[in-house]
Amino acid sequence: EHIDIDIEAASKDGYDHFMLKEIYEQPDVIKKSLDNKFPHGKLNLMDQSFSKEELLSIETIYFTACGTAYHAAEVGMRAMEKLLHKKCQSEIASELKYYQPFIDEKTLLIVVSQSGETGDTLAAMREAKEKGAKILAVTNVVGSSIAREADKVIYCNAGPEISVASTKAYTTQLISLYALAIDFAQKLNCISDQDVEKYIKELYTLPSKVQELLDHREKYKDLAEKIKGAKSIFYLGRGIDYLSAKEGALKLKEISYINAVAFQSGELKHGSIALLEDGLPVVCIISQENLVDKSISNVKEVKARGAYALAIAQKNFKNVQEVSDDTIFIPETLDIFTPVLSVLPQQLLAYETSLALGNDVDKPRNLAKSVTVE
Ligand code: G6P
Repeated sequence: EHIDIDIEAASKDGYDHFMLKEIYEQPDVIKKSLDNKFPHGKLNLMDQSFSKEELLSIETIYFTACGTAYHAAEVGMRAMEKLLHKKCQSEIASELKYYQPFIDEKTLLIVVSQSGETGDTLAAMREAKEKGAKILAVTNVVGSSIAREADKVIYCNAGPEISVASTKAYTTQLISLYALAIDFAQKLNCISDQDVEKYIKELYTLPSKVQELLDHREKYKDLAEKIKGAKSIFYLGRGIDYLSAKEGALKLKEISYINAVAFQSGELKHGSIALLEDGLPVVCIISQENLVDKSISNVKEVKARGAYALAIAQKNFKNVQEVSDDTIFIPETLDIFTPVLSVLPQQLLAYETSLALGNDVDKPRNLAKSVTVE
């Protein structure tokens, strides 16, 4: 008897798409990534990071990447700034390649890339290396070009990511960058032992919090139905929520082909609010305790112009529900870790919208998983 084995279906583990499988792998790979950086619950990056002496010789820390990896890099930069009390810089790789008058041997360039093969990222990194900068790569692919050419490499441990739209690579890039920020802060005496403990303890709660979000998938189909006909969709956030909104907007753009744009909530009124019209969907990310009141005002502001407001809010912010059309609550966590949770609903929303529009979820038009040309 002839038995048909569908290899594609098998490797999708029963999921309809690689993207969905990879979204659902996140609790596991986050845990794996943590275990790799915190063996026995203690931070130990070993030779994946620089020594205290090497760190003392660094004056400026730069971050660079493309696409989703850049969004992770920006969050990593915020975490680094918070823990080191030091201004850091970030720039898109294709820009940094051609503009680096400020990079020298006292610069550390942190390069983030899932594939480790992105042409723009590699080119920016080579240029900086030429100028004497130290290079630390955060990548998912062992032995990739970026991994081989960097001075230090931190691996994300996400396992192979097949879907073009990046999901588990993003969350494990975040984990890697958090570990790196704690590592630098510890070596440079910027952080107390209690705080290190607090951060590590909280990081280990993330897999189950991500799981909690994944266990409630039902509502995204309905939400996708509500937004799938829109010509554009706005994403709003303040501070670190803006960075998460940028990633959410990119995810939606990539696989639904809807024009999705992220704005800093407070900046909307300085021009872009002119674009608001009846029924335009606005996704509002609200995870930061100190910004909640201002963010609620923003929801009211867009509602007053007829927008459909979908909030993704930390679960203690009950008032958000009263002003929004729909609300997805995310578990509580420390400020800098919120993107790990707030991205989840945005990934699922993009997935369901792409599906509802009949698009090729795993292989969106015009995009490639790894773009090796500049
Ligand atoms: C391509 C992909 C994006 C990805 C970006 C950076 O444009 O379509 O999904 O975020 O490259 O890729 P990297 O492998 O460097 O993280």
